[in-house]
Amino acid sequence: MAMKKVGVVGCGLMGSGIVEVCARAGYKVTVREVDDTQLQRGLQRVQDSLSTALGRQKITLEEMDATLERINGTTQFAPFAECDLVIEAAIEKMAVKKEIFATLDQVVPATGILASNTSSLSITEMASVTRRPKQVVGMHFFNPVPVMPLLELVQGLLTSSETMDVATQFGKSLHKTIVVAKDNPGFIVNLLLIPYILDAIRALENGVATKEDIDAAIQLGLSHPMGPFALLDFVGLDTALFVADAMYQEFRDIRYAAPPLLRRMVVAGLLGRKSGRGFYEYPRKEQSQK
Ligand code: CAA
Repeated sequence: MAMKKVGVVGCGLMGSGIVEVCARAGYKVTVREVDDTQLQRGLQRVQDSLSTALGRQKITLEEMDATLERINGTTQFAPFAECDLVIEAAIEKMAVKKEIFATLDQVVPATGILASNTSSLSITEMASVTRRPKQVVGMHFFNPVPVMPLLELVQGLLTSSETMDVATQFGKSLHKTIVVAKDNPGFIVNLLLIPYILDAIRALENGVATKEDIDAAIQLGLSHPMGPFALLDFVGLDTALFVADAMYQEFRDIRYAAPPLLRRMVVAGLLGRKSGRGFYEYPRKEQSQK
């Protein structure tokens, strides 16, 4: 199946990154947001990221213009009738995702594939509200999407091998490296990342070391690009808590139980870069980028 047109539901941090990499790879992309304000904000994010790529000589001006030409914004679902693949990147709430998948199932051609960028929710459950569970797959991208080379594909209980093949070819066409996981909470990356970042918070709570020293230890001792607290601020403490809670709900395993400090910080609005303060403080400029 030759993919030509891709739809993306949601133009937030992840959605806008997905739009960008698809359009850069040559696909025509239709992105849907709930209202015009959100849509313009999302499209601006794509534009800003492409300007960064241009400034760093990752793309030429012609490529940037051609990429932007391939992107169409909408507040409707109807334009997805033209799409071969639609990737959902809306908020991490199963009820919202099920509503989106039920609507997409009505609009997208019967041969089309429906994908979700979820980092923690069940692909099989989303597929259950469609008439095409064989054609529903997880496509988990990583933040920042234009920079991170990984695409985690998730095979639901009923996802066909044909769908996995098409999704693999599509991911490769975006220049991503593909890994495949079954529909198990956290898939591969979050299954291992969540206990690690929760343990880092527990180490801080227990006074093992300062957050700066824990970050430096991991960054310099293990060559990670960021230590766990810088990463938590980058991902968003609310997102990390949501994923941890979703995994704890399924596994009932203490390794996924959020430490009190994380919950308190989220309640206090200390969400990381996006709110200007998490474990660290961020100047205005960085806040507006996130
Ligand atoms: N488009 C294209 N390229 C870009 C770009 C853009 N918009 N912005 C930056 N780049 C390029 C830069 O040119 C640079 O390329 P070179 O190495 O070839 O020079 C590279 O990306 C790195 O950029 P920077 O130098 O600006 O920044 P950095 O070296 O400080 O790295 C970072 C920034 C990539 C975010 C790095 O710190 C990192 O990898 N951090 C970890 C991020 C991570 O773990 N993400 C996953 C989070 S988990 C998740 O997303 C999923 C979940 O379910 C929670």
